[in-house]
Amino acid sequence: MTTTLPGLPAPVPAMPHVAPVPPGNAASLSVWPASARLASRGDVAVGGVSLAEVAERFGTPVYLLDEGEVRERCRTYLRAFPDTDVVYAAKAFLCRALLHWVQEEGLGLDVCSAGELELAVTTGFPPERIVLHGNAKSPDDLSAALRLGVGRIVIDSAWEIARLSALIPADGRQKVLVRVVPGVSAGSHAAIRTGTDDQKFGLSITDGSAQHAIARILDQPRLELVGLHCHIGSQITTVKPYLTALRRVVGLLAQIRLQHGIVLPELDLGGGHAVAHRPGETALDIPSLGARIRRELATSCAAAGIPVPRLTVEPGRALVGPAGVALYRVLAVKRTGDRTFVAVDGGMSDNPRPALYGVRYAPRLIGRRSTAEPCTATVVGRHCEAGDVLAADVAMPGDIRPGDLVAIPVAGAYHLSMASSYNAVGRPPVVAVHDGRARLLVRRESLADINSRDVGL
Ligand code: LLP
Repeated sequence: MTTTLPGLPAPVPAMPHVAPVPPGNAASLSVWPASARLASRGDVAVGGVSLAEVAERFGTPVYLLDEGEVRERCRTYLRAFPDTDVVYAAKAFLCRALLHWVQEEGLGLDVCSAGELELAVTTGFPPERIVLHGNAKSPDDLSAALRLGVGRIVIDSAWEIARLSALIPADGRQKVLVRVVPGVSAGSHAAIRTGTDDQKFGLSITDGSAQHAIARILDQPRLELVGLHCHIGSQITTVKPYLTALRRVVGLLAQIRLQHGIVLPELDLGGGHAVAHRPGETALDIPSLGARIRRELATSCAAAGIPVPRLTVEPGRALVGPAGVALYRVLAVKRTGDRTFVAVDGGMSDNPRPALYGVRYAPRLIGRRSTAEPCTATVVGRHCEAGDVLAADVAMPGDIRPGDLVAIPVAGAYHLSMASSYNAVGRPPVVAVHDGRARLLVRRESLADINSRDVGL
């Protein structure tokens, strides 16, 4: 059964720089997919599908992914970055249908394990459009990459040079990039900052490790060095750190030409583009990012006297995060002292991000119109620890009660890809919504799935 909701109000624009305020009480939908509409009896429709109906049909917790929103975000990137390879960072969320969407839209793929790679290639994703990352690639990762013919392998440590070379047949050649660290601090949380020397990724430009690795790679006949890679972190809200990193990496390209007499044709600037999780938060403006990066690239290459390399960008969350909505059922409401806890049937097993990075979300009551005064509540999960919080100190209707539905928008990136079956709670299903139709993409993890891994006494 699928649901269409006709006669809905005008769309709110996608990818807001600062979340816009749409007319009337639709204001609180500003970080939702552009297709989100207020519907009757407190319901919200996404992709023309009622959330209450999705909960009814697929159970809760359940994740929705708005196909139209993902596709539109892919197009926004392609428009903002002409003559650029836009590569989807699969770690944000990966499933077969999503692979089809991004491939059809003309994107490449960034993977960081044999598992992600196998899923992509067996779904028909062209291997030559795949980039393999990883600070510690296993022998399986490297041999899968070579066997399946990935387009680029990004070398992340000196150890990897000989190890990868040794796996390539004598008559073979693999295109590689080197991941360099430009010494730029950016990103919303220490755990997702990767542009400085005090973390595990890449090879430092500052201490010369990058230059040393490049010289060694150039000595390996089975490795074809095609460019540099740099990913400075995630949830970055301004363009400036990208421009600083870009100038430093172009400086290294110029140095390589001087020292080795070669011009590297490619430059991959990674991802990390911020999304807004709550109305009023800042998302990185993609058209402006594209224009300023391309302008800076042209200017600094001209100043360094080198040709402009072909650019790659690797967005993850900005493509899928705002396209996802998590839907939960309230199981308990508890008032202790001056605090109200609204406990739902999911939690840190499907969304560890508040616990890991302090991310704040804007949950919303669904499927019932409440006229009660709002109260300040903390939406918590069902798991056995006090840190299992989905949204602390948010406004919820004062009469919120067991049986109610609660939706959390901007749930498409790094929720399910980081989900666990903590407390033997199965991971939720994923449902695509598009043009008034809902279809299951990933089924719910059952107790049988979980228990079947335990092979006995
Ligand atoms: N490229 C590389 C090499 C990366 O390591 C990443 C993310 C991306 C691209 C995509 O970054 P994005 O555009 O999605 O920010 N679990 C964290 C995020 C970890 C990001 C890891 N690498 C979170 O939930 O925020």
